Amino acid sequence: MIAWIEGRETGFDDEGQGDPVLFLHGFPLRRSIWTAQVAALSDRARCIVPDLRGFGESAPLSPYSMDRYADDVVELLDHLQVERAVVCGLSMGGYVAFALWRRHAHRVRGLALLGTRAGADAVAGAQRRRELMAIAAERGSGGIADQMMPGMLGKTTRERNPSLGDSVHAMLESAPIAGSIGALQAMLDRPDSTPTLGTITVPTLIVVGDEDVLTPVAESEVMHAGIRGSHLEVIAGAGHLANIERPAAVNHVLGEFLASLQLT
Ligand code: MLT
Repeated sequence: MIAWIEGRETGFDDEGQGDPVLFLHGFPLRRSIWTAQVAALSDRARCIVPDLRGFGESAPLSPYSMDRYADDVVELLDHLQVERAVVCGLSMGGYVAFALWRRHAHRVRGLALLGTRAGADAVAGAQRRRELMAIAAERGSGGIADQMMPGMLGKTTRERNPSLGDSVHAMLESAPIAGSIGALQAMLDRPDSTPTLGTITVPTLIVVGDEDVLTPVAESEVMHAGIRGSHLEVIAGAGHLANIERPAAVNHVLGEFLASLQLT
């Protein structure tokens, strides 16, 4: 559905009954990447799934920053009269989850961090990001899709399920260019969340595909070491988009995590 929230068109889904879980997609994606998780969990959780500003059906309005995305989703929670939610963020959605924790910790019941990292862009990563922005300006979303695609899915998925690659490529290609360029700048500018790790006091699940080359397992190990009491699950045979590559495995670990919070 689409709602006007604080003067902006915001696309989101709100499905299921139970304690709220907020799903935040990665770059340059949209809320439909969570379809399998909503299908599996909406019998026991209220799944709130926004398009981040500039993606899917949410208006591409400046400014773009991790803080702004975090404030946007809190405005959505306010609109839905939801006080607290488990926040489940994939990749860029994880960067937003860290901003949410820093700015609105009282709204966060727990964290599930999938295929993400705490660190800011290092020198080489920042350079790569600027190159991608130049490609985006020149070639549009097709250029971003071609550059991003090799890192999105694991080797196993690419070999065994090539049609998934086609649908992910189509999704990347259809991302609105203004939103993508805004997100690239926001990721380039994002702060290092490593100092945030030690401040996290809510139950935290970390999930990563063992074939993830964009946010390798070592990044998840850093978060696991930094977040007291966190739980790390490595999904075999999955890459960066583990939740769509191995949905049953990811649904299982998310379901167990929600059960451990006594949300189910
Ligand atoms: C994502 O999947 O959200 C991006 O790969 C994150 C990034 O480029 O840092």
